[in-house]
Amino acid sequence: MILSPSKRPPTELTVAEARDELKRLEALIAQHNFAYYHNNAPEISDAAFDTLRQRYNIIVSLHPSLESNDSAAHAIGAPLDNRFRKHQHLAPMLSLDNVFKRSDFENFITRIIRFLGLSPDKTTSPIFIAEPKIDGLSVNLTYKNGLFVRGTTRGNGTEGEDVTANLRTLHNLPTHLTHSYPDLIEIRGEVFLSKADFLALNTEQEISKKRLFANPRNAAAGSLRQLDPRITAQRPLSLFAYALGFSSDFIVHSHWDFLQQLKKWGFPVNPLSQQITGIEEAESFFTSVADQRAALPYDIDGVVYKIDSLSLQNRLGNIGRVPRWAIAWKFPAEQAITVLRDIEIQVGRTGALTPVAHLDPINIGGVLVTKATLHNEDEITRKDIRLGDHVFVQRAGDVIPQILGVTPTTRNSSHRSDVFIFPHHCPICGAYAVKPKNEAIRRCTGGLSCPAQSIERLIHFVSRDAFNIEGLGAQNIRLFYDRHLIRNPVDIFYLHNHANTIEHYEGWGKLSVHNLLNAIENRRIITLSRFIYALGIRRVGISNARLLARHYISYNVWLEQMQSARHIGSDAQLALNALPGIGHAIANDIIAFIAEPNNQKTLADLQRCLTILDESSTSNGPLFGKTVVFTGTLQTLTRQEAKALAERMGAKVSDTVSQKTDLVILGEKAGSKARKAEQLHIQTLNEAQWRSFCIQEDTTIIS
Ligand code: IVH
Repeated sequence: MILSPSKRPPTELTVAEARDELKRLEALIAQHNFAYYHNNAPEISDAAFDTLRQRYNIIVSLHPSLESNDSAAHAIGAPLDNRFRKHQHLAPMLSLDNVFKRSDFENFITRIIRFLGLSPDKTTSPIFIAEPKIDGLSVNLTYKNGLFVRGTTRGNGTEGEDVTANLRTLHNLPTHLTHSYPDLIEIRGEVFLSKADFLALNTEQEISKKRLFANPRNAAAGSLRQLDPRITAQRPLSLFAYALGFSSDFIVHSHWDFLQQLKKWGFPVNPLSQQITGIEEAESFFTSVADQRAALPYDIDGVVYKIDSLSLQNRLGNIGRVPRWAIAWKFPAEQAITVLRDIEIQVGRTGALTPVAHLDPINIGGVLVTKATLHNEDEITRKDIRLGDHVFVQRAGDVIPQILGVTPTTRNSSHRSDVFIFPHHCPICGAYAVKPKNEAIRRCTGGLSCPAQSIERLIHFVSRDAFNIEGLGAQNIRLFYDRHLIRNPVDIFYLHNHANTIEHYEGWGKLSVHNLLNAIENRRIITLSRFIYALGIRRVGISNARLLARHYISYNVWLEQMQSARHIGSDAQLALNALPGIGHAIANDIIAFIAEPNNQKTLADLQRCLTILDESSTSNGPLFGKTVVFTGTLQTLTRQEAKALAERMGAKVSDTVSQKTDLVILGEKAGSKARKAEQLHIQTLNEAQWRSFCIQEDTTIIS
């Protein structure tokens, strides 16, 4: 009997069969996605749906060139952008750093004590508030003149989805504040579904043959992000309020007092929250909460510790998107045993060959795991991990699942296990891959002629902390790379020359091409720190890029200095090495990057099509010390809003254009001021470019 393609093992499919099978699977996945998200009426079970996606992924991993752009098989849920209005938070919604053991928690406290310059004895240890970490989804609740006016999800931390109507259905969310309150306040909290309500909801879903939710958090998220608030109203969502986002007036001095104020306003505050001091108290609180975990009516995944004093919080500030003054101490990761079927070698931006384990799918703590990292070649040898082995897999928080090791009973006579031979050549370009002595990582020597490295570098170039080009994610970079439209970063800024070609690609049209080209246009202006980060120089992450940009301030100075730094003993080299945080190795990586002829050409080409803004030398916002002038009529912002945005980024706003002006924003019918800006060669931006720059840069105000 000949098996139909859908029953055949993916490894046996020819390329032509694989192509047909992928098309068939894509259509099925799109159909079931639609049934689930739009009609709220799934036609198949969760497990059957996962099987379709899994089969799709396996075939794609066997035939990567067949993967279609932005395929429905990758989309999770419906596109949110179109379903909900977006709204910008007044203050960014931060995330939390995680620790899993006492020693890491101790380091967190030590860092704080050092940062604040306190003496490390117990008497001066700052007070913390410890709270259970609720496993739900965070929301931002805005109250204007005491009235609840808007509620949003966290979104990307800067702007979230407007779910006000849905939040109004929560039984314990106050609709107005009483007694004294600031004119404008943002309150943060977690929306969740109790364990009992989750089970009841899944029973109902089962009876009505709808898809089951994997865990209470997914159920809460699915319930809150409903287009029809009447559906949300049927789901008994709850809230715990736990943080102040923004307040127009000064209200309290400590987080503890804020929690008391929240209670007075009628917000539910977690009753287990406590004031604690020192590591011993922190650990005993952690143990006590862990002991109560199973009996609590809602899911928690750890304990959050926050510095109590708001002025200390302010002094400590943030590192990127996480506060320095708070941490989550998470409960131990969840583990499971499954079979290691295959090891795939992935090649990263810097040519590192990374082994990725393909596993028999296994549910770990509500998440289906099919792949896990094996870190590097030495790790496989050290742990003696072989194909076919039963392995321990661990999932902790949002990190990529890891293989801990082989189970003791793994190799008996009935089991085949094969030693994995780590390749000495790049699986993508075939170039020799070297592993220097004393280094764990083997690297491809193909450089930019290796497609994997080029693609990963391009993906990095457009990523969130770099050029952040909306609509140009990994999928589209791969597509344009394969079609030879984008082979190097400069090509991105000439993509408009191929608009007609792209329009005819499957799934594309005039509008989507227009949106993408617009997004690219909006990024022709960029701060120096983002630019340096985007280059993807080895060991130059976002922090080092900021450090360099804040030191050298202008692109030309930076470039010139890096070129001079090639000369051993030069002032430029000494200055670079003396920068705090830039050691010898990093300095050499930067110098080597700048010296490379291909990179020099790319830099020169990029400079021709971009405006690289000087970096502000302080952390008071990307426009700190700059004078900005607005002229003409703005279409999407009031003058006050536009002015406030500029001021929030550290700029001074002036009415007249002069030699001292750094930037002029041109609205419609901009007249004499626009002409003057041109005469004086002052940088100008149109309204769309200004908005886009503000949205992009606003989060850096806090860093
Ligand atoms: S405070 C800057 N407190 O954990 C501090 N977060 O991993 C921001 N969460 O996005 C959050 N319980 O969704 C805080 N008691 C608690 C929390 C809590 C749960 C969530 C929240 C946040 C995530 C970070």
